[in-house]
Amino acid sequence: TATIGLIGAMKEEIELLLAGMENVNQHTYAGIHYAEGDIYGQHVVVCKSGVGKVNAAITTQMLIEKFGISKVIFTGVAGAVHPELDIGNIVVSTTCIQHDMDVTPLGFKRGEIPYQEVSAFPADSGLISLAEKACEQLAIPLRKGIVLSGDQFIASKESVKWLYEELEGACVEMEGAAVAQVCYMNNVPFVILRGMSDKADGSAHVNFAEFTVKASHQSHKIVESILLQL
Ligand code: ADE
Repeated sequence: TATIGLIGAMKEEIELLLAGMENVNQHTYAGIHYAEGDIYGQHVVVCKSGVGKVNAAITTQMLIEKFGISKVIFTGVAGAVHPELDIGNIVVSTTCIQHDMDVTPLGFKRGEIPYQEVSAFPADSGLISLAEKACEQLAIPLRKGIVLSGDQFIASKESVKWLYEELEGACVEMEGAAVAQVCYMNNVPFVILRGMSDKADGSAHVNFAEFTVKASHQSHKIVESILLQL
């Protein structure tokens, strides 16, 4: 049967998945732990990638090569960029862009990866629909939109304004677009789910500390529902 890869960056983002798994086998590759087992009737590999794009990329490629996963779902928290998003709301990725890719001195657009056809990596439409259904059933507010990723914690109004106006982002985090690029290059369907832990502004560090567990658990509920629908 098909194996589904489930990734979070931090402990809070995967702890409920790990707690619900059965028949678990542990594996370690490149220092990252992978728990293979069953949950909600699906065979899955759950892992904590660590923070940032390099960790996320390595983890995703390992899931593909070592476990032959057929889909990837990322679950976690993000800073809200779209002005109508509140803490606790969910963003489901349409496409993912690396906002810190900046080769503008050579005439490339911000976020554009030079000499490459695609820089905005599209999520799987089937997984997006399942996420939408899940949010409807659970009455959790959802916004579909662009997930922006970079190796930076965003914590200023000016940055948020720029990310919204120039890159049309819905939320900002540190892994999604790396997962997306690896999936795209390997032809593996993916979706990024993010609960809003903060608004990426001057209060972001305080809100992040306060709301990460809650926002992670919101995102987890969507994963649970998607796995039950698959
Ligand atoms: N993850 C959660 N909040 C974030 C922020 N403000 N910037 C980057 N990643 C985040």
